[in-house]
Amino acid sequence: MLSYIIQGGNKLNGKVSASGSKNAALPIIATAILNKEPVTLYNIPDIEDTKITLEILKILGCKIVRNSDKITICSKTMNKTSIPKELMHKLRSTVVLAGAIIGRFKEATFSYPGGCNIGARPIDIHLDSFKKLGISIDEKDDCIHCKCKDIIGKRIKLKFPSVGATENIILASVYAKGATHITNAAKEPEIKDLAKCLNSMGAKIYGAGTSEITIFGVKKLHKTEYKIMSDRIETGTLLGAVAAVGGSITVENTNPENLLTVLYSFKEMGCKISINRDKISLKAPEKIKCINISTEPYPGFPTDMQPIMGAILTKAEGKSEIVENIFENRFKYTEELVRMGANINQKDKTLEIVGVDKLEGKDVMSKDLRGGAALVIAGLMSEGITKVENIEYILRGYENLDLKLKSLGANIKIKEEKVV
Ligand code: EPZ
Repeated sequence: MLSYIIQGGNKLNGKVSASGSKNAALPIIATAILNKEPVTLYNIPDIEDTKITLEILKILGCKIVRNSDKITICSKTMNKTSIPKELMHKLRSTVVLAGAIIGRFKEATFSYPGGCNIGARPIDIHLDSFKKLGISIDEKDDCIHCKCKDIIGKRIKLKFPSVGATENIILASVYAKGATHITNAAKEPEIKDLAKCLNSMGAKIYGAGTSEITIFGVKKLHKTEYKIMSDRIETGTLLGAVAAVGGSITVENTNPENLLTVLYSFKEMGCKISINRDKISLKAPEKIKCINISTEPYPGFPTDMQPIMGAILTKAEGKSEIVENIFENRFKYTEELVRMGANINQKDKTLEIVGVDKLEGKDVMSKDLRGGAALVIAGLMSEGITKVENIEYILRGYENLDLKLKSLGANIKIKEEKVV
């Protein structure tokens, strides 16, 4: 079992570079399944989630060459259409591989995804959309078998702007007969990045980043080289760590446009923010002010930043309120914060956080990716030593988080313990 050992109390100062976006990398890696020509990707973060996704592509018969953040994938020799159950359960987002596999092979077999325990995370919107595209779906012994003669472009209106479902419809529709039009599509920047990558290989996708997206089916894709976007949630997490403990930071190789609601919340907390094309600088105030946050689909406040803000606000002046509207079980991290001395009350999907003067270092347990990152920030804010256990969750989505924080002056190291 891996843990972070954190000695809290240090202010953080300096510059760090954001890694490539986890949530753009996963669907963009899936585009290689659609394309029989080589797809070369840059800025792919070296994290558990991308490793698992690439492992699945290898098992399906793709050839993959990786050196540092450059990955070339060739799926010409791909000969399987079933995603291994044990890997599917490790990573919810592999469900978007299904859309790409069906798009190319007109069939796919996969199981109900697993992933972080932040909610039930059904895939009904994905499956309903597949049916609308003419794909038949059989569910037996925990597997979902999809099959069709052709994918016929259709108008699809989503009951909720699901990020994954939007990505799956796009991937499944690239070679469709006719055109697919998505209404109430997710508008996250990762959708725009996916469309830009697909269009760089010859797809015809318009409107990505808005709620209305049209995919005109094409016959063939050609080889491409593409650099994926930076990780907006990692950027927010690094900025948040400095806001929480004091000091100043510049995050480079990032895109301020992708997290404007988060930057505005940092401003409301009393931070000084300056931005330019690919950099964001933040200077922390002496004392964080309390604020209210309500998570929404993009461009609203991102749910993935909710736990990070929850940790920061534990020592704010006054009472803050956080409403989580996207996932029904994304407050697990607060139990550990309360053990560290935070004053937090949950009523349904609302947290009330009354700022305290100090937190105390404790042994705490990560229960999901962003909740784990929140505990790291709480450890940096605490007096004494905090041991954050189960950091395998955190390593799924953050590349070298400990090294980046250490470069800013944090006292943090990884400890490996044998579980007997
Ligand atoms: C993506 O998850 C991200 N993951 C999540 O990031 C992010 O929190 C989420 O979008 C929202 O922005 C990746 O991109 C790999 P959704 P996804 O489909 O696609 C419900 C992180 O920490 N829903 O937009 O699973 C669902 O239960 C992760 O990096 C259905 O009801 O999110 C949830 O309540 C966590 N039926 C809401 O919609 C469906 O078929 C949002 O889900 C699909 C979703």
